[in-house]
Amino acid sequence: MEKLVIEGGRPLQGRIRVHGSKNAALPILAASILALGKHVISNVPNLLDIDVMLSILSALGCRTERHNDHVVIDTSHIKTSHIPEELMGQMRSSIFLMGPLLARFGHVTVTQPGGCAIGERKIDLHLRGLEALGANIRIDGGTIHCSAERLRGADIMLDLPSVGATENILMAAVLAEGRTIIRNAAREPEIEDLQNYLNAMGAKVSGAGTSTITIDGVESLRCCQYAVIPDRIVAGTLMVAAAVTRGDVTLTGVCPEHLAAITHVLRQAGVQIDISDDIMRISCPARTRAIDRIVTQPYPAFPTDMQPQLMVLFSLSYGTSIIKETIFEGRFKHVDELNRMGADIRVDMHSAFVRGVPRLYGATVEATDLRAGAALVIAGLAAVGTTNVEQVHHIDRGYDRIEDMFARLGARIERYASAPAERIIG
Ligand code: EPZ
Repeated sequence: MEKLVIEGGRPLQGRIRVHGSKNAALPILAASILALGKHVISNVPNLLDIDVMLSILSALGCRTERHNDHVVIDTSHIKTSHIPEELMGQMRSSIFLMGPLLARFGHVTVTQPGGCAIGERKIDLHLRGLEALGANIRIDGGTIHCSAERLRGADIMLDLPSVGATENILMAAVLAEGRTIIRNAAREPEIEDLQNYLNAMGAKVSGAGTSTITIDGVESLRCCQYAVIPDRIVAGTLMVAAAVTRGDVTLTGVCPEHLAAITHVLRQAGVQIDISDDIMRISCPARTRAIDRIVTQPYPAFPTDMQPQLMVLFSLSYGTSIIKETIFEGRFKHVDELNRMGADIRVDMHSAFVRGVPRLYGATVEATDLRAGAALVIAGLAAVGTTNVEQVHHIDRGYDRIEDMFARLGARIERYASAPAERIIG
């Protein structure tokens, strides 16, 4: 397996453009199934999860091509609505294909996506929402069979603002007969991006970004061209990395509004953040100060996908912070690894008590999931000495060659195939 070797202690300096959003691109690529023809989606990041989604679309019969950050998908020759089990197992976001396949073909077979390192990841809200639209759902062991003559609009209340359930129901409802209302919908920017893409295809969707989304079903949709929004979590990760290395970094191509909660917390901690249009400059000449309490919550509050990265910042701040994780029950696996680097963190149920220390020390640590891995890279950039981050494939799911991203800002970071046999370039 590959690993990253990081020589810490170098302030990040320079300017970098943030790549497109993984969590916007995945449902948008899935939604391309809803219309026959060639879609051109731009600002699609080069990530493992995107590769898996493109492999699934190809397995269904789509023709897919990638030209740098453009992806062309021809959905004219889809021949099946059965998603291969081995591909389902590679990425839980394949569940996003249920809504579009059901809407387009009237049936879909998927395997239970199962949990992952951060939690159980149930899909009951997805299934209940599709049933409300008229789908018959039969679960046979680990396989889920969905079918529907014609989906009919419904008034759906979500028990909790699930991002994936909101997106799946939304994608199914655009071709349903009549009006669908999704109440207690998730409000993430990625859902607004999906709405905008669907409307560009001729759908009639309004309200994304609020708790109530209204969809008036149409007979058919047309293929289109669309540019995905920037990745707010990659942007947030770079902001924290600039802060913990006492650097001075300018991000371009960002959407500051999507980063409001992250900006608010970092400014409270003493990070200097200057915003102008789609440009953000982050500088942090002095040690940050702890914030008493941070709670991860659905958008627009502080996002769970930034919790591990923020923990690194608080590990190096003056004072003690409490971070409460309310979204995923298993999202503290980075704590043990950070403590092995000299952090002072104690976990009690869903809260982490972080006592700031003057410095972290390089160590060999293991990425357990995507954002935990990114946090360990940030810790290595700030630490004294050398850090080896193993199981890098977790990080590659959501960051396009993270080592290049940080090396461009002056970090000393390299990717190795396994034991330091040979360096991997390009
Ligand atoms: C999306 O996951 C994101 N993934 C996650 O990003 C993100 O952390 C999460 O939303 C929350 O913002 C993508 O968009 C591909 P949820 P999703 O449904 O849709 C429970 C990353 O690092 N739940 O909002 O799976 C669930 O167990 C990833 O980029 C049910 O109980 O998140 C969890 O506790 C990690 N039943 C909570 O809701 C359901 O049917 C939030 O899940 C669905 C979810």
